[in-house]
Amino acid sequence: MHEFKYHGARLMGESVSLQTVAEEFGTPLYVYSKRSILDHCRHIERAFDGHPHLSRYAVKANANRELLRLIGEEGFGADVGSVGELRVALAAGMHPAKITFSGVGKRDDEMTTALRSSIHAFNVESTEEIEVLNDLAGREGKRARILLRVNLDIDAGGHAYVSTSLKQNKFGVPSHQAGEVLTWASALPNIEVRGIHSHLGSQITQSSTFVAAAEALIELIRTISREGIPIHDLDFGGGFGVQYKGYVTHPELPPEEPEEMNLSAASLIRTVVPLLRETNCRLSIQPGRSVVAHAGVLLVRVLFRKQTGDRLFIVVDGGMNDLLRPSLYNAYHQIVPLELKGHPLEVVDVVGPLCESGDFLALDRTVPRVERGDYLAVLCTGAYGYTLASNYNARPRPAEVLIDGTMRTMIRRRETVEELFEG
Ligand code: LLP
Repeated sequence: MHEFKYHGARLMGESVSLQTVAEEFGTPLYVYSKRSILDHCRHIERAFDGHPHLSRYAVKANANRELLRLIGEEGFGADVGSVGELRVALAAGMHPAKITFSGVGKRDDEMTTALRSSIHAFNVESTEEIEVLNDLAGREGKRARILLRVNLDIDAGGHAYVSTSLKQNKFGVPSHQAGEVLTWASALPNIEVRGIHSHLGSQITQSSTFVAAAEALIELIRTISREGIPIHDLDFGGGFGVQYKGYVTHPELPPEEPEEMNLSAASLIRTVVPLLRETNCRLSIQPGRSVVAHAGVLLVRVLFRKQTGDRLFIVVDGGMNDLLRPSLYNAYHQIVPLELKGHPLEVVDVVGPLCESGDFLALDRTVPRVERGDYLAVLCTGAYGYTLASNYNARPRPAEVLIDGTMRTMIRRRETVEELFEG
């Protein structure tokens, strides 16, 4: 599972020194481990303990086609949030029958493309969306299968921006309206009601949150079925949290307390599957982060050390346009040198080169002393790293490299400044 580890003083990705990879491909650079992705997929699949299900990978976490291909080969389908994600999932060889389309704002052309691609279902979020889908399906001579996303009004904890199942959030329809909406929708000529979808939020670390959702869904499905609407599919969403702190350990590094002991997607899934069994529905989940977060690192290089007053800044060549999570969510990513040299620890702000004070990778962080030219790894950045990257400050997005044993393959080339300005 953990494929980024120190061998002696060198941080390795599988069997390659990451310093070698950084020198070969330049920085900033996203590096992924093939073995880690496969292990995470298998870990999730084993947690179902033989219960029939389908895991649909949430493409928004990392949309690299090569990674999608690996995930698809493990039997996963895909949950897409746009026509772009649909196209990359199909290009990666994912079967349309294993694809769902989620999201609160699907454009007409996106729904039409998805209908023409014969995806499994649309996870719909409002009556207006269902009406439009009904019309578009009619025009295409198709019936659109739908799962209604319900808002369970459950507090998933974590950052407010990634909580999606509180009643003030834009997502889903309130669960008390679900029966009424589905009764209405099932009378529409071009709609086939398949079931219910729920997604609570992201980076959820408490199994009690998932248990509360499972119990609410079981009750809801019971009520709706009693009203004469059969519920075939239950899509339980994603959101399974991962450990960010203390991912890599070494005697030269300051110890970091992990956020939860034994946190894993598999243990969270194992808690709810036995409960959801009683619905007799076809069960699916949409994990994103828990498949890819640990499988990726961002490599950056130290440009300058800069002391101003009592702050010591380590200015690196990767910033908020390459990895937005620290700036946007105050997210914690462990940062470690690719080569440990026995240097003393110091407290620093690791900052990027962009023109904002919000451009940081870590604040008040204890790291071994590093100098100009040294490389650092920002850990657990396989999920919502590259997909949130931008061209802010006319900065080309980084390259992506996949490690397999000692082999490394560039799976997306670095953007060039020239292509940013092509009309
Ligand atoms: N399904 C739906 C409908 C979603 O909206 C999401 C994530 C997922 C599945 C996958 O959730 P996961 O298993 O990855 O937690 N940019 C934020 C996370 C936003 C999540 C958005 N939706 C971050 O970097 O923390």
